[in-house]
Amino acid sequence: MTEFQFITTSIQKEIGIVELNRPKQYNSLNRQMVREIVEALEAFEHDEFVRVMIISGRGKAFSSGADIDEMASDDSIRLELLNQFADWDRVALLKKPIIGAVHGYVFGGGFELALSCDVLIAAEGTEFCFPEVNLGVMPGAGGTQRLTKLVGRTKSLEWIWSAKRITANEALQYGVVNRVVQPELLLEEALKFADTISKKPPLAIRLIKESVTKAVDYSLYEGMQYERKNFYLLFSSEDQKEGMKAFVEKRTPQFKGR
Ligand code: CAA
Repeated sequence: MTEFQFITTSIQKEIGIVELNRPKQYNSLNRQMVREIVEALEAFEHDEFVRVMIISGRGKAFSSGADIDEMASDDSIRLELLNQFADWDRVALLKKPIIGAVHGYVFGGGFELALSCDVLIAAEGTEFCFPEVNLGVMPGAGGTQRLTKLVGRTKSLEWIWSAKRITANEALQYGVVNRVVQPELLLEEALKFADTISKKPPLAIRLIKESVTKAVDYSLYEGMQYERKNFYLLFSSEDQKEGMKAFVEKRTPQFKGR
């Protein structure tokens, strides 16, 4: 796999792991680092062996957001020409499940990266925050949209306007995270969850992600049509034949992802 400067990658069983690794700057996300994260995730996406991905951060924080030093002298034309968030947007195009295992500070762009994951597991003591307003700006990598779709307009406005730090338990209460665990168990829990998903038929897992994601954007009718097509599509897979045959024969199915 490619050598990276700001992240480390590894594979455990069928799980591809990306760790943000710029701990002295609390994993603040410079442009190269975002590019590396996306390239690593895309490599896992294309690796037939990998079924689930995990993103986590080394050091005291998952990520304190976009690198302010790098952005401070930018102007709007430069951001437009750079297409600043194009790499960030690529995360949402990935079809394999992504689990975020977060701890410490999950701020700004770090929070946006976390919100791009499909499942979020947070260590006790994690703080989530959109501090951009204190810098005279606002979230720009999907924060106003993804948070609002999760927690509703009023809470989203309150949190983003005030730059309030949200505790892990508050995030759990509002459905921002799936579960809160003791810090020392964070990666173990993420791996456990990933392991469960990795044993399921990969095509069904993929089309479930696609269909559930569409529910956020589509009307109920459009979403149902989308779901149905995916349901029908799965009946062309070997895994559907195997899954149903194994049920009838009362044995454990062997899924291949085809
Ligand atoms: N960008 C650049 N450098 C950062 C950073 C960031 N987002 N976050 C932390 N750092 C650096 C600090 O400058 C400091 O560097 P030095 O050691 O060289 O001085 C080092 O990391 C440690 O940080 P602190 O000394 O500030 O540590 P602390 O424990 O006192 O505070 C913190 C931690 C609360 C996270 C604080 O660093 C902080 O508030 N960081 C900025 C958070 C922020 O505003 N994030 C939003 C960025 S904008 C964005 O993300 C836009 C978007 O939508 C994509």
